[in-house]
Parts: sequence; structure tokens; C-alpha cells
Amino acid sequence: MAFSDQFLDEIRTRVPVSDVVGRRVKLIKRGREYVGLSPFNSEKTPSFTVNDQKRFYHCFSSGEHGDVFTFLMKTEGLSFPEAVERLAAEAGLEVPKDAPEDRARAERRAGLVEAMEAATQWFQARLAGQSGRIAADYLRGRGLDAETVRQFRLGFAPDRRTMLKEALIARGFAESVLVEAGLLIAPDDGGASYDRFRHRVMFPITDRRGRVIAFGGRTLGESRAKYLNSPETPLFHKGNVLYNLGPARQAAHEAGEVVVTEGYMDVIALYRAGFKHAVAPLGTALTEAQIAELWRLAPEPVLCLDGDNAGQRAARRAAERALPLLKPGQSLRFAELPAGDDPDSLLAGEGPAALRRVLDAALPMAEVLWRGAVGGRPLDTPERRAGLRRDLGRMAAEIRDETVRGYYRQYFAERLDGLFGGGGGRSPGPRPGGPRRGGHYGAFTIAKLPARHSLGQGSEAQSIRRERLLTAVLLNHPVLLEEVGEDYASLALSSPALDSLRNAIIKQAGSGEPLDIAGLKDNLSGSAQAELMSLSGPVAADLEPFARPEADLNEARAGWVHTLGLHRLEGLRVDMNAAAAVLAQDMTDENYARYLALKQEFDRARGEATALDADRGAS
Ligand code: UTP
Ligand code: MN
Repeated sequence: MAFSDQFLDEIRTRVPVSDVVGRRVKLIKRGREYVGLSPFNSEKTPSFTVNDQKRFYHCFSSGEHGDVFTFLMKTEGLSFPEAVERLAAEAGLEVPKDAPEDRARAERRAGLVEAMEAATQWFQARLAGQSGRIAADYLRGRGLDAETVRQFRLGFAPDRRTMLKEALIARGFAESVLVEAGLLIAPDDGGASYDRFRHRVMFPITDRRGRVIAFGGRTLGESRAKYLNSPETPLFHKGNVLYNLGPARQAAHEAGEVVVTEGYMDVIALYRAGFKHAVAPLGTALTEAQIAELWRLAPEPVLCLDGDNAGQRAARRAAERALPLLKPGQSLRFAELPAGDDPDSLLAGEGPAALRRVLDAALPMAEVLWRGAVGGRPLDTPERRAGLRRDLGRMAAEIRDETVRGYYRQYFAERLDGLFGGGGGRSPGPRPGGPRRGGHYGAFTIAKLPARHSLGQGSEAQSIRRERLLTAVLLNHPVLLEEVGEDYASLALSSPALDSLRNAIIKQAGSGEPLDIAGLKDNLSGSAQAELMSLSGPVAADLEPFARPEADLNEARAGWVHTLGLHRLEGLRVDMNAAAAVLAQDMTDENYARYLALKQEFDRARGEATALDADRGAS
């Protein structure tokens, strides 16, 4: 709606800036102005001034400047029309309705709002009444107390076909209004209308001013749809609304943070745990409008979506949608919940401190995009590396803001340098401090997993060290080949020299003759020969004691078994991280299943390895 300048000026005249500001900031009169501590910056000496004659405020520390309207918009997150409406009421002015159609529409909306309010109260009364026991028990079972139920105005829709309809018609609401409000369903075939929500816990969805404009209903039975939402109505456009936006707005401004979850129950659980600045979309991916709304609340909204496949997919979609809209200082962050958790279950299981940690560890947008681009693809050839570079370039190009786009390009270039040891294409040649490792392992070390899961820098060297130990034990105690030869033969070895040495050992052992080092040597090429010499006999002094010739057989056997366990564990870790990276790239059910299978195998192997360690420690 357009407001006339005259009308806005009238408000500015009637409502002094110092009145509005004075409710948030303690002001001291100094000459013609007021001064106080800036609400935009934390400061110790006042640099915030208000001038009622000039009808503006100015903040010298932050450069913020404006009038009564902008003050409410900046400090309370109101939109301009809302600020106008609020201040008009304060000034005792009627907001002018400019055209008759607008007036008719406003009246129709008012009728719908009334119907929604009446329905809310009716659902609340049902929850409090005898028939609502089942819903009340359910909510109590989920840890909600009476105060929370009141706060969120939760209700209950009984399992009856026309109970709401009859109640509201008895109160004078027209059936057509109830249908338009989405409370009743009118069948296409002209049959009698009936209640849309039945046998559900009702979550009223409010607009930013707290008026109920829709409902979400959670089934208490076996309904196919766990949650049912109101349809699109003149009041309710799903893509423009965030659950709990009204209450969250003030809290978000105070906390400087806003958290986005997937579900109603998550928002409520967060609220109860003291995170009052939580909102949720209504069962769909975040829309541009919702992202814009979030940015009015905080510069870097934190997405805290379910730790499952769908949650990760939703996060990725939000990142893609936000990318073109990034502005200096304005981004999204992505919290990673443990697999299988949503914020509600994490809070229930581990409490607010755990959620705080998850929120604080949220990844920046750029990191998430980088991981998405680099994960799950081989980067072992110049062409493949160039392909990654191209994809990152395309991604950056989506950003409309020139400054942010420039910094993204720089960021990606630096990450490429880091990944390819300076060979990312910008600065060829060795870099100071020596060549970096990474190379073709790079693709697999970057996985959408906490750092403790990813392979460390020295992992490849560690892997070869274990392979050498496993080989040395068998060279120095060949009788063990009878016991563990099968395992040894099936080992994946990353060093070609060790691989050909192993093959020669297995071949000789298969002949039934005792292992003959000199004979082995003759059949091996240079590098494998060198390995043989360094691993067997008296020169093997740099090896762990159990792998040396002088070790006793039991020690050698135990050392071998332990090393094999570790080696498999690390192999699984690499596979699991690779699968996680593939999953981050492409969230299909198959990729998820594969990741999950590897993760379970890994966890089991780790459990066994730990148990083995404990055994060894005890003996
Ligand atoms: P979830 O299934 O994660 O909700 O869906 P939840 O809150 O964790 O569920 P419960 O109550 O604890 O079991 C997240 C959101 O997706 C929408 C709803 O908005 C829900 O809050 N949704 C989900 C639907 O719209 N329809 C559905 O059938 C399921
Ligand atoms: Mn959930």
C-alpha cells in the first residue's frame, strides 16, 4: 500500500523520535538534542543522538541515520507498512484505505482472520476439554508443559466430520468464509463440506503481527500425512510465511541470531530451551521470500535442519537459492546435526549446551559450497582439476553482488591452491615451504564430516608404514604365512614396490619351500628389492620391535594382527569419507545407503580395534 507523504509527515509530527527511541535507549537531554548509548553498537560513551525538531536520529559510531519509521524497522524488524501502522495507531490516526476494491479486500480478509481466530479458540478449548485428553497426553509425552501449550496456542481437532463446522456456523460464520479460510473442505462434486483437520494436534501459524492465518495439524493416528497444513488462502501464502516469525523477531534482534529448523516441534523445543529466535518454513524448501525475511532478522541466519538425507538436501537447496542474493555481510550458515537427530531430539537427548555447540560450529556458506563442489569427484588429472575450477567459477558467477562475487572467486582460488599444492593454475612451480601433499588423495579427504573423521595429512605415509610392517613381520617370521597368508594376499597395498614384493612372497610360500630371501631377491626389480632388504634381516632396525627378526613369535603374531586391524580400519575410513563426499555431492537414497553401510562397518571395526587394544593393554 502506498502512503501519502502528507500522512507520513503527520505521523512524524505527532510522534516524537525521542518517544520511540526512548523506549529502547536511555536518553539524556543535552541542549536541543538527546544523547544515549547506540542500540546499533555496543559502546561505553554515548554517540547516539536524537533530534526531535529535525525528526531524526543519528548514530556517530555506526553511521545509522533515520526517522521513527526506520528506527522501528531497524530495531524491531518491522516492515515499512507495519511501522507506519504501529505509529499511526500511536498517533491516533486511521491508516487511509486508498481504493474501494482495497477496502472490500481488507474486509474480506478481516472476516477470514476472525474465522481463523475463532477456530484457534475452539481448538484450544477442545484440547482443554474431555475429548482432548489424547492430544494433551501426547503433548505431555513430548515434554510440553501447559505454559508452552498456551504460548503457542496449541489445540486439538477431534476425530469428527463436521464438529468445527457446526460450532462456527452456530457462531454466525458463513460456510463460504470457512471454506475460503481453508477450515472446511468443499468437495468438487458439490457434496456437503466438512472439517479439514480431524484427529490432529493443531499448531496455529501466525503472521508477523500474531494473527492466525493458517494451521499445521499433526496427526494422532495413522494418517498418511503426518502433518497437514492449511491450503493457500487469501491470508496464507506458504512460501512467504515462517512459523513463529512474530515472537522470534524481537528475540532475533536481541540475540543477533536467527535459527531455521524444519519442523514446528523443533521451533517449540528451541523456544523452551531458551532459543526464542527460531523459525521454520512450512514443510517446503526455503523460498527467496523467506530468505529475504530471515535477513531482516539477522545477517547470518543459521540453518539447523534435520541430520538426515532430506535435511541435507534442503540445506543444499537453500544454499543454491541464497547464492545469487548474497550481499556484503549477509549470508547463511549451516549447522550439522548428528545423523538421525533433529533439533528437538538433540535437545531432548543432550540439552541446550549441545545445541549451542552445534550452532556455533555452523559452517559458512562458502565452505559448504566448496565441499559440495569438490566432494566425491576424482581430481587426479589436469582435465578433472580444470573441471572443478570451471564449476567453482560458474558458482561464483551466480552471485549478483560484485564485491561478494570477487571475494568468492578469491576464496575458491585459494582453496584450489591449497588442494593442489599451488598447482591450481594460478601460481605454478614450487611454493615456499616445500611442496604440499594432497594430490589425488585430495578428493577423498574432503568429506562432509566432522574433522575428526577425515584423513589427516600424514595418512598416506601412515598407510605405507603399516604395509611395510605387515610385510616385514612375514619376512622375518615366515611361519606366520600359514596362519595369515590369506589375509596378507588379499590386502590392498598402495605402494607398487610392496605389492610386487608381496606377490613374490605369496608365490614362493605357495611352492611349499621355506622362504628364501636370496631367491626372492633375484626375482624382484629394483624398488621391490630395496624394500626387501630394508624390511628383512639385521638392517630392519627402524621397524617396530614386533616386526624385527629378534621378536618372539607371539609378539610378532599379535603385532601383525593388530596392524592389520588398524589398516582395515583406515581403509574403511577412506572409503567412508569418499562415500560421504559422494553423498554431499548427490544426495540420493543409494548414496546414503552406501555411506551408512560403510559407516556401520567402520564403527564396528573401530569397536573391535579398541577392544583389541584393551586386550593388549591388559595382557
Ligand atoms: P518432520 O517430520 O521432521 O517433523 O517434518 P517433526 O517436527 O520432526 O515431526 P515430529 O512431530 O517430531 O514427529 C518437518 C516439517 O515438515 C512438514 C511440517 O512442517 C513439519 O514440521 N511436514 C512434515 C509436512 O508438512 N507434512 C508431513 O507429512 C511431514
Ligand atoms: Mn524432524
